[in-house]
Amino acid sequence: MKTSKKMFWIGLTTVAAGGAVLLSLGAGADWDEHRWSAWGQRADFAPVADQAYVSECGGCHMAYQPGMLPAESWRRIMGNLQDHFGDNAELDEPIRQHILGVLERNAADRVSSGRSPGVARSLSGRAPLRFTETRYFRRKHHEIPARIVEQNPQVGSFANCDACHAGAKKGSYDEHQVRISGVGYWDD
Ligand code: HEC
Ligand code: HEC
Repeated sequence: MKTSKKMFWIGLTTVAAGGAVLLSLGAGADWDEHRWSAWGQRADFAPVADQAYVSECGGCHMAYQPGMLPAESWRRIMGNLQDHFGDNAELDEPIRQHILGVLERNAADRVSSGRSPGVARSLSGRAPLRFTETRYFRRKHHEIPARIVEQNPQVGSFANCDACHAGAKKGSYDEHQVRISGVGYWDD
């Protein structure tokens, strides 16, 4: 990127970040939970930096951005952690309540940024347990053969977003930045 262009983006990002801080002060929103990637790069799903969420829900798989699923999905998931996709992910009640609050406040049907509103609309009231089983997700991934997912030990499952999307933990899923573990860059 040329320097002048870069300076422009730095300037714009600074103005945008300043505005966001003012907005959050005004609205009392939990902006501190949102950490947008550097340079103001567009996030497909707003990342959440809540310590408890990232450490309790980011151990077995990446801590999915709450904006992938509606609040009711998160209530269902958080209401049955002892039988969590075949694993026991039970938590102490105060932490469970705290995390549920973070998830609800940042759910697909609560936030207005990135892809969340589109995801919420496409579900029209349904509350699935998995983002990977939504039609929204399938539409984006239908061209990818099982050979490079289920049959690829370095990926294993579509739920491992970060095995293919380098920016997944920052909420960035740009189709031009896909690099599939054990396969390489995706180019369709
Ligand atoms: C003990 C391990 C473990 C912990 C801890 C854990 N999970 Fe999971 N989670 C799993 C497994 C296993 C799957 C299924 C992954 C797969 O299909 O490849 C899963 C799947 C999911 C999915 C569905 C992903 C998709 O779209 O297919 C969501 C959502 C999810 N977990 C949320 C959470 C939340 C929220 C927490 C924290 C309260 C959490 N997980 C903690 C093991 C865990
Ligand atoms: C096996 C690798 C793989 C996994 C795992 C995977 N994706 Fe993708 N994803 C891709 C590829 C490849 C594309 C681009 C598809 C195309 O161009 O047809 C894509 C596209 C997307 C897009 C659309 C991007 C755009 O610019 O239009 C989103 C959003 C997305 N993925 C989110 C996710 C999320 C969230 C997860 C985890 C729950 C996930 N993906 C898991 C490979 C993967």
